[in-house]
Amino acid sequence: MKVLVVGNGGREHALVWKLLQSPQVEQCFCTPGNGGTALLERCENLPYGVDDFANIAESVQKYNIDLVVVGPEVPLSEGITDYLQRYNIKVFGPTQAGAQIESSKSWAKKLMADGGIAIAKGETFRDADAAKAYIAQQGSPIVVKADKLAAGKGVIVAETMAEAQNAVDELMGTGFDSIVVEEFLQGEEVSILALTDGKTIRPLLPAQDHKRIGEGDTGLNTGGMGAYAPAPIATPALLERVQTEILEPTVAALRQQGIHYCGVLYAGLMVTPEGEPKVLEYNCRFGDPETQAVLPLLETPLDQLLMACVESRLEEFPTLKWYKGSAVCVVAASEGYPGSYEKGKPITGIEEAERLGSTVFHAGTKLNGDCLLTDGGRVLGVTSLGEDFDTAIQKVYSCIEAIHFPGVYYRRDIGHRVRE
Ligand code: AMP
Ligand code: GLY
Repeated sequence: MKVLVVGNGGREHALVWKLLQSPQVEQCFCTPGNGGTALLERCENLPYGVDDFANIAESVQKYNIDLVVVGPEVPLSEGITDYLQRYNIKVFGPTQAGAQIESSKSWAKKLMADGGIAIAKGETFRDADAAKAYIAQQGSPIVVKADKLAAGKGVIVAETMAEAQNAVDELMGTGFDSIVVEEFLQGEEVSILALTDGKTIRPLLPAQDHKRIGEGDTGLNTGGMGAYAPAPIATPALLERVQTEILEPTVAALRQQGIHYCGVLYAGLMVTPEGEPKVLEYNCRFGDPETQAVLPLLETPLDQLLMACVESRLEEFPTLKWYKGSAVCVVAASEGYPGSYEKGKPITGIEEAERLGSTVFHAGTKLNGDCLLTDGGRVLGVTSLGEDFDTAIQKVYSCIEAIHFPGVYYRRDIGHRVRE
């Protein structure tokens, strides 16, 4: 089998790496890929951007690719799946209609409310004054969100009313004509990435991300600074509730809209102090960096699962097999991220970090001749496994110390919640 992964982040490197472990996968392609996918044996980077649907379709035909796996949300929300399906190409990832679950917060909220799913209560506004009046009525803390995709910059958790009112002006002043204002939920977050073929739903191990740049979960929001799995907050009882009260009704609600959803349904949940799981948001794709923590623990061949989703036969896999133990991924970022940062810094020590017992997934890297350079905000994700979290955490930090580039920054407290 030949598989093409679309995207260029740490998530896509992890997908290709895992797919290549399957005896059935003879070759992978990644477009546009990064330094990590360029260095993998049996993987070839193609030069096309994630929105270059025509060249992606042509490559699938040229190289006899059997399956396309789409990493990021932007091409999904722009209809890459619909486009490729017109050429009878097998695609893992929802259609444009299905991707609305991530690309339109108001659409997703209505779908969930109609399906009786527990969510943060809120309203959608196209008028700033009406949004502000609602905020004044509800009080703070309160959460203001861009209705559309915003590359992780569209959510403001406002401590005060003034902050919330400013957030309304800021979002509406920067091109977001529709916003969602919703109740602030307290609790602990967990990411449930579930594979689905539109009927059967098979969640992967629960994971926890670390969204803030600073230790102790302080500072600005980022794409994610580290993750671990399986997150102990998601007890078997909680996962059972997530399956029956959240995931199943969501897939049923999608079907009612005529949407056959094939791909990852990623529920970003808040587990409230009372132990209730509530949906903060849905994503229509694998999480980054959750994927870099979850996939190393997966024993069932990934290609078989993704193909089963595409061919509507996921029910053939009643359970997924997992290696025992814990996984922790720590992201090494460029100095200045999530603000401005410089690129093009030479990276050393990856081989040593791997020799010490980790897998290094590349995110923002590029190969310049033989030299590996930084090429983004999040540069690498270093994952280690251990029989328990203490072992995995110790190992990952001893490995990441081997990695150097000017200005390298990483949080030293990834996994702190499992130790509290
Ligand atoms: P989202 O992109 O919707 O997941 O939001 C980004 C982050 O903002 C989430 O991971 C939460 O940390 C926070 N957040 C979003 N919605 C809420 C909410 N209703 N209550 C509390 N925190 C929230
Ligand atoms: N880790 C958060 C995300 O993938 O959206």
